[in-house]
Amino acid sequence: MATYTGNLVAVRDVDSLRRRVQAWRREGLSIALVPTMGALHDGHIANMKIALKMADRAIATIFVNPKQFGPAEDFLAYPRRESEDFELLSAAGVQLLFAPEVAAMYPVGFATTVRIAGLTDILDGAHRAGHFDGVATVVAKLLLQARPDIALFGEKDYQQLTIIRRLVADLNIPVDIIGVPTVREPDGLAMSSRNIYLTAAERAQAPALYRAISAAASAIAGGGDMAAAMATARSEILKGGFREIDYVEASHAETLAPLTNRSDPGRVLAAAHLGLTRLIDNVAIPYA
Ligand code: PAF
Repeated sequence: MATYTGNLVAVRDVDSLRRRVQAWRREGLSIALVPTMGALHDGHIANMKIALKMADRAIATIFVNPKQFGPAEDFLAYPRRESEDFELLSAAGVQLLFAPEVAAMYPVGFATTVRIAGLTDILDGAHRAGHFDGVATVVAKLLLQARPDIALFGEKDYQQLTIIRRLVADLNIPVDIIGVPTVREPDGLAMSSRNIYLTAAERAQAPALYRAISAAASAIAGGGDMAAAMATARSEILKGGFREIDYVEASHAETLAPLTNRSDPGRVLAAAHLGLTRLIDNVAIPYA
């Protein structure tokens, strides 16, 4: 199945995706893949534009992956806006959209799970059982289906990015993983498809998460006590209106283990609940 509008072609099956990729390969073109779950925002579009600068052709994928949602999570409610997304991708100059149905990705009899030990059990993984197994499984499939030269993932999902780097290294998948800096609203809130769940009052409170982790990261960079910086960040997040914190941690930027040595690259990562919405964010520790 292929739909044509302007220069953007949408395909829903792996054979059509591969035919298009093979035709580009025969022309000697380089290919970037930008996996998404749709409901595209400016952050996604920034990734598409970077993809188009780094490669001759860009493929966006839209697939709301059921395997990465827990039973109590928002799989059914997750925003789906395929025609608006199509227009945005077309305007950004993306050449190919791969938007498979669930049955095409997980046909009857599908039995494989990709599990990355350790990295998937901490931080978000400790609060979302099985989430990263679902992410790793679908990302492995998308990379092998499209076989791009590069694939771009946002730093907003920093643990996901770290896990995908491990996946690609461990399975020798021949692709360069590019981490793209988080795109933020003017008040600092990280762009996310889930921000639409926030009420107006919650939307006004939401930047407290970014402010708190940025202050913690600066305090650590300035030589402040790490435990004290984390405690202050927790208290600021709660004062800012969040009702519950899953974690606020200073971690090694590559291994995600607790940061113990100030000379190592570090990241402050957090997840907290604002009303019914769970927000995550992270920032680099800005050593001078
Ligand atoms: O970050 C996302 O949108 C998803 O986790 C991804 C990488 C597209 C896998 O479903």
